[in-house]
Amino acid sequence: MKQKWVLITGASSGIGAACAKKLGEMGYNLILTGRRKERLEELANNIKAGETLVASFDLQKPGEIESFCARHEAYLKKLDVLINNAGLAKGNEKVDEGSVKDWDLMIDTNVKGLMHMTRGVLPHMVAKKEGHIVNLGSVAGRWTYPGGAVYCASKFAVRAFTEGLRMDLQGKNIRVTNVEPGMVNTEFSLVRMGSKEKAEAVYQGMTPLKAEDIADTVAWVLLRPTHVNIQEIVIYPTDQAHVGMVHRS
Ligand SMILES: NC(=O)c1ccc[n+]([C@@H]2O[C@H](COP(=O)([O-])OP(=O)(O)OC[C@H]3O[C@@H](n4cnc5c(N)ncnc54)[C@H](OP(=O)(O)O)[C@@H]3O)[C@@H](O)[C@H]2O)c1
Repeated sequence: MKQKWVLITGASSGIGAACAKKLGEMGYNLILTGRRKERLEELANNIKAGETLVASFDLQKPGEIESFCARHEAYLKKLDVLINNAGLAKGNEKVDEGSVKDWDLMIDTNVKGLMHMTRGVLPHMVAKKEGHIVNLGSVAGRWTYPGGAVYCASKFAVRAFTEGLRMDLQGKNIRVTNVEPGMVNTEFSLVRMGSKEKAEAVYQGMTPLKAEDIADTVAWVLLRPTHVNIQEIVIYPTDQAHVGMVHRS
């Protein structure tokens, strides 16, 4: 069987790193991207995989995405799967007190970065007449909560983009999936809250999902027969019944 190529954004941590490990073990060739190059190199050196390419760039900067795509066109022509995973939440203030800098960071990364990355890769998949794009949405792209307006708006945008993309690609043999997790214990809360103590409190008394749970789901989605498109999948930890409803012991 031909070894497939997968590009994972945000492979330097959390869900992206777990996807790299899982898909590498399954024999995929990996293109690992993110801003922290040393982390990506360390991961590439320590996981089982086919061939591995590491590329560090900032998804907030369209020019960096463009130059990555131009520089690595030969790899992108072979690409079977794009996992648009990189993203973040920053802050949890109410809108009237929120930081517009944090809002720009979320929108530029979660929405524009994902869209630009997709635009850069997609023509090669269309030419090849096959491919699969997996977006990391969130339950926050389906339901909102206080202090989450802008992060939720960014993930609602990911869901809308995924739906529209699926329609635009109809007949082109390219699958599109939106994976929508609830609480996953990664660096996500540390980035959002800015301190270890505050991040730990998020998961106090409850059992969150692990990054590996989401990687398993992504692997399952990819392994469906090619006539099957898992369009959306919502995964909550058992202790979380809704965005603001968490059982704590
Ligand atoms: N954890 C959760 O509870 C949860 C729930 C639902 C959905 N999600 C979504 O899952 C995805 C992965 O999050 P995670 O939980 O694995 O968080 P994480 O551990 O903080 O990982 C986020 C990844 O995104 C990358 N990234 C952030 N900004 C970037 C930028 N400007 N350019 C390039 N890469 C960037 C980071 O790499 P660098 O810092 O090295 O650039 C890192 O590898 C995100 O889209 C998140 O919204 C998470």
